[in-house]
Amino acid sequence: GKVAVLMGGASAEREVSLMSGQGVLQALRSRGIDAHAFDPSLRDLGELRKEGFERCFIALHGRHGEDGTVQGALELLGIPYTGSGVMASSVAMDKVMTKRVWSAEGLPTPKYVWLAPDQQERVRVRTVPDELGLPLIVKPPREGSSIGVTKVMGYSQMQDAVQLSARYDPDVLCEEFIEGEEVTCPVLGEGASAHALPVIRILAPEGAYDYQNKYFTDDVKYQCPSGLPEAEEREIQRIVLASYRSLGCRGWGRADLMIRASDRKPFLLEMNTSPGMTSHSLVPMSARAAGISYEELCVRVLLSASL
Ligand code: DAL
Ligand code: MG
Repeated sequence: GKVAVLMGGASAEREVSLMSGQGVLQALRSRGIDAHAFDPSLRDLGELRKEGFERCFIALHGRHGEDGTVQGALELLGIPYTGSGVMASSVAMDKVMTKRVWSAEGLPTPKYVWLAPDQQERVRVRTVPDELGLPLIVKPPREGSSIGVTKVMGYSQMQDAVQLSARYDPDVLCEEFIEGEEVTCPVLGEGASAHALPVIRILAPEGAYDYQNKYFTDDVKYQCPSGLPEAEEREIQRIVLASYRSLGCRGWGRADLMIRASDRKPFLLEMNTSPGMTSHSLVPMSARAAGISYEELCVRVLLSASL
C-alpha cells in the first residue's frame, strides 16, 4: 500500500527533518515501496486518509512531530505510524519529564534545576551554579539537535544562557555537566523483543558537538564499534534498554549519554523517539555496524508501524 513519509514540519528542526525524510524516502523507494513525501506544515493530515495512505513513516523531529501530537492525530485517523505512541513521544520530548521518570526508576541522569518562566529572574538564575557546580548546561527542555544549548563556564554567563534557551521554550532546563565522553545507543523493537544496537562514541573537537557539527561539517569523529571495554558497552546497552522501556517507547529510539571520566559511570541525557536519519546521523551508523544497511533499517522501522 501507499506509504507517507512525514517530513519537514514547523519545528526548529525542520531542516534536519527534511534531510532525514529525503533519505528515508529514497531508501523505501529503492526497496520498491510506494512512498511519498508529506509535509504536515503545508498540508492537512486529514488528506492522508482521503489519499489512501496505509502507513506513515514519521521522519519529523521536535515539536508537532516527535512530541505525540502527530501521533495522536494519526491514532484518530486510524493510520499506523512508526515509532513510539502518544504518551512515550510526549514524555520523551520533554527532558524534565523524562528525568522524572528515569529518577523514579533509579536510572542515572545528571542533576538538574528546572526554571519555569516565573523563576528566571536574575536572583534565582544566579543561584543555579551553587546547586549544580560549573560548568553546567542550559537548554530548552523540548528541543533537539542542540538548538538553544549553552555550556555555561561562569556565573556571568547564566542570564544570557537562560535567555537564549527561553527563545525556544518558556521552561528552561539547567543540568549538571558530566565531564567525560559522549556516547549514543539506538534501540529497535518493542517490549520483550526490544534490543539495543552497538554504542557509538562521539569525539567532537573541544566538545563542540553542536548543531553545525552535527549536520554540516565532518569535524566530529565517530567510533562504532565503540572500542569500549565489553563490560562497559554491555552496561550502557542495559541502561539504555531500561530507559527505553521505562518511557514505554516502541519501534525505535536513540538514547544519548555521557560517561563520567572520573569513574566511568554512564548518565542518561535524553531519549530521541524520532531519531535523525540524515547522512550524518547516528542510528544508521550503529545499524551498519550491526550489519543492517540504511535501506534495511528503514524497511524494518516501517514494518514495525502500529496504532
Ligand atoms: N534530534 C535529532 C534529529 C536526533 O536526535 O537525531
Ligand atoms: Mg534530542
